[in-house]
This record gives sequence, C-alpha cells and structure tokens, in this order.
Amino acid sequence: MFLNKENILFDKEGHQCFLLEDYGHGEMVQANVFLIADNKKGILLDPGGHKVFKPLFSDISELIGIQNLKYIFLSHQDPDIVAGLNGWLITTKATALISKLWMRFIPHYGLDRYVVSRLKPLEDEGGILKLGNSEIFIIPAHFMHSPGNFQIYDPVSQILFSGDMFFSFGMDYMFVNPGDDIEKHLKEYVEPYVKRFMGGKQIFKPYARMLREIDEIFGIKMIAPQHGAIIKGHDNVMKTIEWMENLEAGPDIIGPVFKIPNKPIIFD
Ligand SMILES: [Fe+2]
Ligand SMILES: [Fe+2]
Repeated sequence: MFLNKENILFDKEGHQCFLLEDYGHGEMVQANVFLIADNKKGILLDPGGHKVFKPLFSDISELIGIQNLKYIFLSHQDPDIVAGLNGWLITTKATALISKLWMRFIPHYGLDRYVVSRLKPLEDEGGILKLGNSEIFIIPAHFMHSPGNFQIYDPVSQILFSGDMFFSFGMDYMFVNPGDDIEKHLKEYVEPYVKRFMGGKQIFKPYARMLREIDEIFGIKMIAPQHGAIIKGHDNVMKTIEWMENLEAGPDIIGPVFKIPNKPIIFD
C-alpha cells in the first residue's frame, strides 16, 4: 500500500479519513478518492473508473476489510465518479447512493441486473447517514456542477468533501496549508474551472449560507475536492467561501457565446 502520512487526513478515536490517490493517471484526469471510516465501517466517495478499481479495492481491503464497506457515495453522474460502479457492486455488499435524477442513466455504465437494486436515490435535500458510531451529512450541491449533485460533510473530522467544487489542476502541490497563499491558489488554479463549470451566483449565495451555518455549528477545517489540491485550515476555508460567493460563473458569463456559429470546424 502506498499510504503515507499525508494520505491520512484524519485519524482519531476510531474515525478516519483517507485520501486514496496517485494510482497512475494515464490519460485520465487526476482524481482524488476518499474513504471515511468509523469503527471500521466505511463510505467510499466517488470511486471513479475501471483503471483505479483494482488498486483501490486492495487498499480498502487492507484499511477496513472489503466486507465493511457500507456505502459508495456518488456525488454526481460523471464517468470519473461512476464508471467503475458495476465492479464495486459485484464485489462488495455496499449500497451506492446518487441523486434521484440519475437513477435511470447510471445503468448505461453497464450495471448488471442483479446489483442494480443496490443503487439508491437521494432526494434533493440530501440527509444524514449513519456510519459506525458517527453521522455523515450528505449536503445539497446542485449545479456544482451537475443538476443532481451532492457533497459530504463529516462533522467528526470537520472536512467538507466538495466533489468537483473547488477542484484545481496544474499546480505542483497537493495541499494548501495554513499560511500558504490561498488567494494565489484560488485565482490561478481554481478560478478557471469554477468559472466555466459551476452554477454561478444564484447557487453560490445559498451554498455559502449553508456552509457558514455548518461552520458555526460544527466547524469546517478542510475542503477536500475530487480533483487537485486539498485546502487546509479554517482561515483558508473561510477565504475560499468568501471568494466563491462573489464570483461570476457559468450562467452569469456564458451568455455571449449564444450566437449562430459562422466558422467551419477543421480537424488537422
Ligand atoms: Fe464532474
Ligand atoms: Fe470530477
């Protein structure tokens, strides 16, 4: 197993959060997979495609025992989240969870008939999931970027697993630590993607309100997105929320491209 200290995001009194990453990316987009375990019962977040299935499977077997994998959380319908789902359902007893919007679409990834009933729909409001002795919050994150989209907040570790929101590419680090230049990180490596992929101000405002409420009640100490760098420290988390809240993105800025095309598409 490749796990080093940096891959253990939290480990206290039987509750653990692991970053499972770096299985070799090939042509695939870099992706972070997370495992939350409480008293050895696990939930796997966004397990991705076929090529990472094998190493992920053996890591989970080693960390908690594959029979203890209770849930597979699918933040939304994209291939980097769902493509390998049939393998997971065949080889585990886990229940997979996804927005109700995607229930009829996911079988196109090749779900076998005898496992399809273990894919369960989530209502738009999300909910609270019992995991071991802990509770995991499945929070609404629609239009960031999928119309049926959820994130996970874990009140024990105080980590927000933000899915595609706040994802980043291109930097040579995996963590933004307290005291690091969070503004530079957001501007250079997060903003180009948030601006194009995410739902814009109408969504960011209520989302920020919900995150602030979560922070007041439970605290948020880390944001762990599904691609790129993990943002650590309460100050950095708050700066990230503030930055996002005032950003124009998606529908706010895409209007001008809606014109009848007038250029041929040429492939070299
Ligand atoms: Fe996505
Ligand atoms: Fe993604």
